[in-house]
Amino acid sequence: MALVTSKEMFEKAYSGGYAIGAFNVNNMEIVQGITEAAAELRSPVILQASAGARKYANSIYLVKLVEAAVELHPEIPMVLHLDHGADFQTCKDCIDSGFTSVMIDYSGHPFEENIEVSRQVAEYAHERGVVVEAELGTLAGIEDAVSVAAEKAMFTDPDQVEEFVKKTGVDSLAIAIGTSHGAYKFKPGTDPKLRLDILAEVARRLPGFPIVLHGSSSVPQEYVQIINANGGALKDAIGIPEDQLREAAKGAVCKINIDSDLRLGMTAGIRKHFVEHPDHFDPRQYLTDGRANVKAIVAHKIVNVLGSDNKI
Ligand code: G3H
Ligand code: 13P
Ligand code: ZN
Repeated sequence: MALVTSKEMFEKAYSGGYAIGAFNVNNMEIVQGITEAAAELRSPVILQASAGARKYANSIYLVKLVEAAVELHPEIPMVLHLDHGADFQTCKDCIDSGFTSVMIDYSGHPFEENIEVSRQVAEYAHERGVVVEAELGTLAGIEDAVSVAAEKAMFTDPDQVEEFVKKTGVDSLAIAIGTSHGAYKFKPGTDPKLRLDILAEVARRLPGFPIVLHGSSSVPQEYVQIINANGGALKDAIGIPEDQLREAAKGAVCKINIDSDLRLGMTAGIRKHFVEHPDHFDPRQYLTDGRANVKAIVAHKIVNVLGSDNKI
């Protein structure tokens, strides 16, 4: 099977009450860890590249690495997705170079501009058989809201979603309900709670439409501890509780973005390896441990959070 779009994946995920994992890729070991887990568990998967990843690895390497994974695991439906495309040109470059899905992230711009640029990307993408994700709302940690007005401005406003989707023609929508990027999502001592009520209201207004959650790493404490026990210094790293993500995946959420957890797994594997084998200097030795952790984390997500195993 060649790379696919997420259209059929999302239809099945929506009706089946599960979500597809969208994992960020930056190098070969990460692509291998993710796709080996997906293949063993017979799960569809989305591999996504950010602007930073494209700059670090060179986009051509990432496209070719993902194509290699498709060749090795032909039975697994895989999407190559642009994560957080900042403008039309970035989306166009990716569409023209083999990506099957792009995100146009104009959520930081005024509503009307977000509509106009997302519409342009959707038009260009659809003419070429590519699907588009857009975003409404500001992704930030719950504790960042200082007042009711600030909170309202931050979360996605359900009053805007029907107009946005109708006018842009995008295929999926990322919403802000309290998730945030990185490994420090909540202050210690707070009770991390997503606004599942906003999600339910968005779903009511957009029946059957796929919703996306960014910033959905759970920051597994076992890996934070391994990092800290082996020379790291990650203080108060806290993520999204897995049971809340599972709840979201049962409903309208069809795509869940995970990057930070893979970074933690890779780093924990490498740090532990160096401490246990101070004489090693062959990158294949320590990258093997990092890659094994990536694979184990993705497998855990597929089974326990996304529910996307055995869906092929
Ligand atoms: O959305 C953020 C992703 O984790 C990508 O992060 O821009 O550092 O590659 P990055
Ligand atoms: P995390 O930082 O929570 O892994 O989120 C990743 C993400 O949203 C990529 O777009
Ligand atoms: Zn994101």
